[in-house]
Amino acid sequence: MSGLTFDTVDVSYDDRAAVVGFSNEVASGEWVGLIGPNGAGKSSLLRAVAGLTDSDGVISVDGRPLAAMSIRERARHVAYVAQNPITPEDMSAFDYVLLGRWPYVGRFGAESSRDRKAVDEVFERLRLIDFRERRLGELSGGERQRIVLARALAQETSVLLLDEPTSALDIGHQQQALELVTELRCHQQLTVVAAMHDLTLAGIYSDRLVMLDDGIVVADGSAAEVLTAERLGDVYHVCVTVDIDPDDGAVVVVPRRGFPVDGS
Ligand SMILES: Nc1ncnc2c1ncn2[C@@H]1O[C@H](COP(=O)(O)OP(=O)(O)OP(=O)(O)O)[C@@H](O)[C@H]1O
Ligand SMILES: [Mg+2]
Repeated sequence: MSGLTFDTVDVSYDDRAAVVGFSNEVASGEWVGLIGPNGAGKSSLLRAVAGLTDSDGVISVDGRPLAAMSIRERARHVAYVAQNPITPEDMSAFDYVLLGRWPYVGRFGAESSRDRKAVDEVFERLRLIDFRERRLGELSGGERQRIVLARALAQETSVLLLDEPTSALDIGHQQQALELVTELRCHQQLTVVAAMHDLTLAGIYSDRLVMLDDGIVVADGSAAEVLTAERLGDVYHVCVTVDIDPDDGAVVVVPRRGFPVDGS
């Protein structure tokens, strides 16, 4: 099948399980929001897809197991934006985003004009042209986060993994980045799996939410199905109300003062 499939995926560190028996099918062009409390296993799962951590089970893109691909081939299918990416301080933003083209550049070859054009397009789309020649070490946290996203988009993969992609962005740039990913998703059948802590944003931008708790899927469905005050109380130990916008059906999670009643 096309898209991204997980068949009984486990991720462990030494003997401690971080993700247990994760099975799911993310359709081509679908956006799945991965939610759950700190330590739930979201990053571990994304890192397993990116090949950055060992896992058991099978993860496939368009029916092909990722484990059977070379690193370069895998990077032509899957781009990953880490939660806390390490960026070289002295590198220019342009050169950093150009690194996103490495899966296409020959072993000893230089980047082609096609690679530079792809990078230019991403700079334009993310409205980052003013940052092209800036050193990464001189950028604000949010500016750097947008450059890291730009690098992943320049990779032109069919699957994009985002780990807290907007955590450092102001509300305007959050929306801009998520809208851009939405646009690419529609035009290029981009399959997106994004770990997000902002539940309202996750619900608005995702087709489907998968909630992990302690490495296990505890809910999988539409925002309205997954984001209930009762479940959020159980899983996050938080007191919230959940409103449904009467105009567009958006599910809005509003934190309230107080403690949730046990089991509710
Ligand atoms: N490199 C590692 N070595 C050992 N344990 C790890 C490692 N990375 C993560 N863990 C543990 O695995 C579990 C899942 O961590 P993970 O980073 O996947 O959670 P998360 O859902 O992304 O959390 P957060 O919302 O805080 O980013 C946690 O208990 C964490 O302590
Ligand atoms: Mg994480």
